[in-house]
Amino acid sequence: MAPETPLDSDRLRAMARTVFGAYSGAVTSAMIYLGDRLGLYRSLAETGAVNSEELAKRTGLSERWLREWLHQQGAAGVLAHEGGDRFSLSPEAGAVLADERHPAFGAGFFSHFPQTMAIAERLPEAFESGLGLPYDAFGAEGAVGVERGFAPWFRSLLVPVALPRIDGLVEGLEAGIQVADVGCGTGVAMIEMAKAFPKTDFHGYELSNHAIARGRANAAEAGADNVRFHHVREEPLPEDERFDFVTTFDCLHDMTDPASIVAGIRKAIAPAGRWLIADIKCHGSYEANVAENPMAAMMYGTSVMTCMSSALSEPGGAGLGTLGLHPALLEDMVHDAGFGKFQPIDFGHPVNAFYLVQP
Ligand SMILES: C[S@@+](CC[C@H](N)C(=O)[O-])C[C@H]1O[C@@H](n2cnc3c(N)ncnc32)[C@H](O)[C@@H]1O
Repeated sequence: MAPETPLDSDRLRAMARTVFGAYSGAVTSAMIYLGDRLGLYRSLAETGAVNSEELAKRTGLSERWLREWLHQQGAAGVLAHEGGDRFSLSPEAGAVLADERHPAFGAGFFSHFPQTMAIAERLPEAFESGLGLPYDAFGAEGAVGVERGFAPWFRSLLVPVALPRIDGLVEGLEAGIQVADVGCGTGVAMIEMAKAFPKTDFHGYELSNHAIARGRANAAEAGADNVRFHHVREEPLPEDERFDFVTTFDCLHDMTDPASIVAGIRKAIAPAGRWLIADIKCHGSYEANVAENPMAAMMYGTSVMTCMSSALSEPGGAGLGTLGLHPALLEDMVHDAGFGKFQPIDFGHPVNAFYLVQP
């Protein structure tokens, strides 16, 4: 036993505040999930300041429950308290919580909050065995949460802002080329591109059955008949240099064997092809991640719940995790696979770093 040191009462209070501040964040997250799911933010965005009775009338929901929810959201600083029992959604809160097409929209990330938290029950076993869980462990709602979380950037900036920054790419896409999106999730990025470039064929490669099922439904709903989904285990990337453009959005760090996927992309890409990589901004050390990323605690936690877990979901998995694929490691990985050019591109994204890679 370590000798007992007397506790400093100020530091004890500060530590309790840190710990319960974390609990407060978790509870507020559950309330944000409810606000999104029940359409409360969208309703507040339309009405301006309301009290619980007015919100109940608009939404058909129970006044007493809404009153407690409004009080929680006011106390958490998500809604503004306008005096009396009235609360409002600021324009900025509206962009983050109500406007699904705004690039800053973030409420979508909360749509799989219950499934994400529920996974904690399965993690003690993972800590013992070392084996994590793939994305499909979160069920169909997990794929919805990833889609709604990432879609705002794809819908507002991928086609009009990012693609034109790559020399000659838009001309090629307009004329008709072959594109692969590896780790495509439910295909939002591909569908956005497919609608803009109907002469180009888009092939999504994915491991999650839930994501593929939803992606096929999304493509059908969008009328994007130039989009195909492939399960990577049944139909791996072809080794015939057929793709002119390859994308990997936020998925390499989730893979059990990213090096083999990178090698596969090298064999699938045309000699003059381009590969656009998006992955989480991070550094080679814990210290730099914590110093430079105000969301480092959330990111490391997300890694345990989701990203590292997925990357350890098979024996011998690389286990990179959310903040594990830093630029130097990625550059080595692409050069080892035989790619010649590796160039960062800054799209001003708050979370992701982007790279353009060529054979
Ligand atoms: C964070 S999600 C990103 C999905 C999508 N690119 C997006 O931006 O919405 C990571 C995805 O990588 C997929 N994934 C993990 N390992 C994979 C592999 N070996 N091959 C293909 N996809 C994989 C997961 O199933 C998951 O859908």
